[in-house]
Amino acid sequence: MPEEEVTVDPMTLNDLMRVIEIERMCFPDPWPFSAFLSDLENENTITLVAKIGKKVVGFTICHVVAGEMHLMNIAVDPDFRRKKVGHKLIEHLFYYGEQHGCRIMYLDVRKSNSGAISFYNKYGFEILYERKGYYRKPPEDALVMVLDLSERSKRGVV
Ligand SMILES: CC(C)(COP(=O)(O)OP(=O)(O)OC[C@H]1O[C@@H](n2cnc3c(N)ncnc32)[C@H](O)[C@@H]1OP(=O)(O)O)[C@@H](O)C(=O)NCCC(=O)NCCS
Repeated sequence: MPEEEVTVDPMTLNDLMRVIEIERMCFPDPWPFSAFLSDLENENTITLVAKIGKKVVGFTICHVVAGEMHLMNIAVDPDFRRKKVGHKLIEHLFYYGEQHGCRIMYLDVRKSNSGAISFYNKYGFEILYERKGYYRKPPEDALVMVLDLSERSKRGVV
C-alpha cells in the first residue's frame, strides 16, 4: 500500500494538545502551553502542523522579524520520523521566506543533537558560532546555525 501523503496546515487551537504531546516526546525541557499559545497569537510567527491523514505528526514554529526568520521549534513524533515530515515543514518555511523576501534563517540546536544537525545540514545550514551554556535541563551548549535564503533560492534548491 502506498504511504499516506504528508500535508501541512496552519496550526490551530485545536491542534495544541497534540502539539504539546509531541513536544514532550521530543525534548527534555519542553515548552509550556503558554509559550505555544503566545506564538499562535503572534502575527509575526509562523505556526504549522504536519499531518498524515487527520493525525498531527509534527509541527514547526518560526519567528519572522525584519526579513530574518528564526526557527524556534521543529519536531516530529518519533513514530513518524524519516518519512519526510520534517522536510515538508521546513520546505513550507522556505517557501514562505521566498514569497516574503526573507534573507536569512537562524536556529539554535543542542550540540549533541546529531540527528537534527544532519537534518539542517541537508538543507544547507552552516554553523555560525557556539552559545556556551545556552540550554538547561540538561545544561548544554548551543550551535547557532544559519542559512542564506537568497543564495538558496538563486541555486534553485528544492
Ligand atoms: C529533526 C527532525 C525534525 C527531522 O524530522 P524527520 O521528519 O524525521 O526528517 P525527514 O524525514 O524529513 O528527513 C529529511 C532528511 O534529513 C536528514 N535527516 C533527518 N533525520 C536525520 C537523522 N536522525 N540522522 C541523519 N540524517 C537525518 C536525512 O538526510 C533525511 O533524508 P533521508 O531520510 O532521505 O535520508 C526530527 O528528527 C525530530 O523531531 N527530532 C527531535 C526534535 C528536534 O531535535 N528538533 C530540532 C530542535 S533544534
